[in-house]
Amino acid sequence: MKGLTSRQVAVQALTEIDRGSRANVVLAAFLEDQGRGLSQRDKAFVTELVQGTTRMRRAVDHLIEHFVKRNLDSDVLAALRMGTYQLIHLGTPAHAAVNDTVEAAPRRASGLVNAVLRKMVDVDPQWPDEATKFSYPDWIWDLFVNTWGAEGRESLISMNAPERPRPRPDGYIQGQSSRWVSEAVDQASPGGGILVDLCAAPGGKTTAMGPAWSKVWANEIDPARARSLEKIVDSYRPGVQVVVGDGTKSPFRDGCADAVLVDAPCSGLGALGRRSDARWQISEKAINRLASIQDALLEEALRLLAPQGVLTYSVCTVTQAETSDVAESFIGRHQEIITLGLQGEHWRKHHGGGLVLPHDFGTDGMAIFQWKRES
Ligand SMILES: C[S@@+](CC[C@H](N)C(=O)[O-])C[C@H]1O[C@@H](n2cnc3c(N)ncnc32)[C@H](O)[C@@H]1O
Repeated sequence: MKGLTSRQVAVQALTEIDRGSRANVVLAAFLEDQGRGLSQRDKAFVTELVQGTTRMRRAVDHLIEHFVKRNLDSDVLAALRMGTYQLIHLGTPAHAAVNDTVEAAPRRASGLVNAVLRKMVDVDPQWPDEATKFSYPDWIWDLFVNTWGAEGRESLISMNAPERPRPRPDGYIQGQSSRWVSEAVDQASPGGGILVDLCAAPGGKTTAMGPAWSKVWANEIDPARARSLEKIVDSYRPGVQVVVGDGTKSPFRDGCADAVLVDAPCSGLGALGRRSDARWQISEKAINRLASIQDALLEEALRLLAPQGVLTYSVCTVTQAETSDVAESFIGRHQEIITLGLQGEHWRKHHGGGLVLPHDFGTDGMAIFQWKRES
């Protein structure tokens, strides 16, 4: 039997994602299964089509709505979105974007897909506002622009062309700003000792730590994620001990750690490029709920920390609620900690901590705070 084309695999994956499945999970599974006959180059093309179309969903839907007024089945809509994305954003030659997308569309809708994409070839896009043009929900657009002004706008635009991280020397692929967090953890404790990483999966930061640590514990609440953490640790940092549990109620004794990293669950608003569907999944309401989990994780981290130990808090988001507000309320509750200055010119100063906005270096956005326990 003839294998599927790149565009057929992409349409099927986009249909799954539109029904609510996570883009990165669907893509990985489809490339391995439906796309197994494809070359590496074709797989990269499927990735570009799926991630790009998912990111630009609001923008392409705005254009499609000019030509189609009724609701469409997910698979037909997926083909139209993918064709429009190629024409408007990828600059694919019209004959390939139209003909090859029609070939990949459900047969029952090939007439409609052909007619709409032929009209799309001549469209000069007019956008009602920048949130539509750059394809973000209004609340995310407003939050960035209200918080960071023109730099918030730049951040959002840069997340539509996300980082393609280079592998580390050991082969693991980790974003640059995530590596800077591991470096900061190492730099603040040159003598090493015992490190507890309270929110460790998938293990990028744990496995990037330097050699000074005599013992590293990697804790993760989600059993499935802890299993993949174990595999990553076995390959890239054997000797790290994985623990499955809630980091707000960990099994570690008081004062057992020389350093604790809380790389907390967060809204991920600094990583919207890497997670193409995240902008459509996250709700504004989640931010306050996440901030209270972040508070609880910091309290537990402090319990584990020995005097003179260093606590690092990091999140791949840039909201005030999850960065400066969490940090300021934490130091307000604890006289026994002092704020440490950060090394590394990449960090902007941010309420005693550091921040990288996505457009600074074309990486994920990241915030970091470090404190030393004095007594
Ligand atoms: C930002 S990710 C960590 C990324 C990881 N440090 C890395 O660099 O690869 C946050 C992780 O915390 C986990 N998590 C969420 N709530 C937690 C909790 N209460 N205790 C421990 N882990 C938690 C999530 O399942 C997720 O794997």
